[in-house]
Amino acid sequence: MRIFAIESSHDDTSFAILDDNKPIWMKTITQSEIHKIYGGTIPEIASRMHVKNILILLEEFKKVKLNNELIFKNIDYIAYTKEPGLIGSLQVGYIVAQTMSRIYQKPILGLNHLEGHFYSAFINKELDFPVLCLLVSGGHSQIMLYKEYDEFEIVGETQDDAVGEVYDKIARKLNLGFPGGPIIDSIWKENKNLYKNHFSIPKTANEFDFSFSGIKTAVINHVNNLANKNLEINVNKIATEFQNTIVLYLKNNLQKAIKKFQPKCLSLVGGASANYAIRNMVLELHDNVYLPEMEYTTDNAMMIARLAYEKVKK
Ligand code: KG4
Ligand code: ZN
Repeated sequence: MRIFAIESSHDDTSFAILDDNKPIWMKTITQSEIHKIYGGTIPEIASRMHVKNILILLEEFKKVKLNNELIFKNIDYIAYTKEPGLIGSLQVGYIVAQTMSRIYQKPILGLNHLEGHFYSAFINKELDFPVLCLLVSGGHSQIMLYKEYDEFEIVGETQDDAVGEVYDKIARKLNLGFPGGPIIDSIWKENKNLYKNHFSIPKTANEFDFSFSGIKTAVINHVNNLANKNLEINVNKIATEFQNTIVLYLKNNLQKAIKKFQPKCLSLVGGASANYAIRNMVLELHDNVYLPEMEYTTDNAMMIARLAYEKVKK
């Protein structure tokens, strides 16, 4: 069974082909260089860039061959990201998917982006339910409990900012550049044995929820206080202690959720799952941990194709 998928919910335009859970081809064009100039995604620009980039991908897709045969002539399903995301960006993927479905007379599946992230850890892999999943990206931070392939519950989620978003804001405050995640992570790797402290861990009414904006405010206030008193701002120390806080917070909530829900496996997905410290923390929490390949941590169409495969294989 051959699935063609389109992802365009945020600032990545991505096409992928999956054949019975085997990745055949994927191409992603990211717009991050453009949005970097503004310090965040500008929806209007994102939609226009998707229109331009999706045409480039269509040309590439037309040329993909498997066993000397052009793949586009032999697709069984067309999947696309329906929600959630930037409306103008989603519309671009939807129109292209809908047009292809009508021209090729193939069934179309409009899918959920967050469910797609969940399946990013199971590309070319099968899974055993129940699965507990930590999704950490630039737009989302949540703990999902999958009881069955299409039955899931969000047991905890951020009440304010997402993990990646906070990394980006702290990096900006410390003048480190964008995106903040990889930069702070590499500072952490160099300094983790030097700075063991952390900022205080926020409390929420639901024990599995998160509130990352409290951590962000604490770090920003700390930097402002030092500046006001003309004291040295030790960027490496602050960045390392900030990451210590995030990792400890995620760990505390995951541990409680594992104890309560007793999952058969644990997974970590989303853009911030590329984080070295978060990956290692998760690997130590369970015997059966699934992590996505690096190319599937950020938004991509292969995870949407993998989700479609799960929905239609029965
Ligand atoms: O999933 P994604 O592409 O964003 C959404 O579209 O939601 O993830 C991007 C986010 C950025 O905020 C970036 O700072 C963060 O993921 N990120 C990281 C790391 N690499 C990327 N955060 C922490 N550590 C990293 N190594
Ligand atoms: Zn995403």
